Amino acid sequence: MISGATLLAGVVGNPIAHSMSPILHNAWLAAAGIDGAYVPFRVAEDRFTGFVESLRGGSVRGLNVTIPFKEQALALADRPGERATMAGAANVLVFEADGGILADNTDGLGLLAALAGQAPGFDPGSGPVAILGAGGGARGAAAAFTAAGCPEVRIVNRTQARAQAITDVLGGEAFGLDRAAAAFEGVIAVVNATSAGLAGEGELDAPLEATPTTCVVMDMVYKPLLTPFLARAQALERRTVDGLAMLIGQAIPSFEAFYGRPPPADVDVRALALKFLEGR
Ligand code: ATR
Repeated sequence: MISGATLLAGVVGNPIAHSMSPILHNAWLAAAGIDGAYVPFRVAEDRFTGFVESLRGGSVRGLNVTIPFKEQALALADRPGERATMAGAANVLVFEADGGILADNTDGLGLLAALAGQAPGFDPGSGPVAILGAGGGARGAAAAFTAAGCPEVRIVNRTQARAQAITDVLGGEAFGLDRAAAAFEGVIAVVNATSAGLAGEGELDAPLEATPTTCVVMDMVYKPLLTPFLARAQALERRTVDGLAMLIGQAIPSFEAFYGRPPPADVDVRALALKFLEGR
């Protein structure tokens, strides 16, 4: 039941109909007995600023932000947190009663939680990692690994100059895709943060056989759950981590930012999300 006192939050992006965040957050709200509702907002690309500005003061408590608005979201916030600043993007905005906007980036927390959950014993501080791609997702991952004490982050991208733009800010080394085998030498993890494999993009051809056999291979994409990239890693007997674990891992601290408490631990949101993914 939605009452006059219902606390609103939501996710903003374009497109947004595919988003699984409403499923996760509403399941948690119901289980926690919070009078809240979490809704999707599809906003035209040139209307994002006006949309966010209109929420100052807190008619909506907070927003998750997804493609293509994460960089703009950070720019609009007057109280950006350190994680968001390092990642150059925000996936969480919180609207304060005094009109201020807080920005956070919980994608990196989601990435590390996914690794901890699906690759038990993985220690981000124990060796170099390679990240494929140089968009917002890749930069966020690089920031998260750096903050977690990773000694060397290697950014591997088709367009090497974009990889260089990230390492210029965060440190580490930039590689072209043609040198991926060199970048994979001795790594403890490889993370795919490219859009390759998504509709309209070509397959990603990365020489995973050049990774150590102990390397953990992760994909940020969760549709399908077992991407061709992860399937190849499994064929090579590498441990794998899927994008759904990361999605849930970023949603948990997002919920906490909106409602001031962690979501109830006894809701199997992964099973819920899998059911939703299968049903489409
Ligand atoms: P984000 O959504 O993370 O912000 P983006 O800015 O859309 O990402 O960037 C997509 C990434 O996927 C880029 O790193 C892109 O490489 P380029 O910088 O060279 O364009 C990468 N990408 C997309 N399709 C690819 C493919 N078929 N092979 C390799 N890389 C690909």
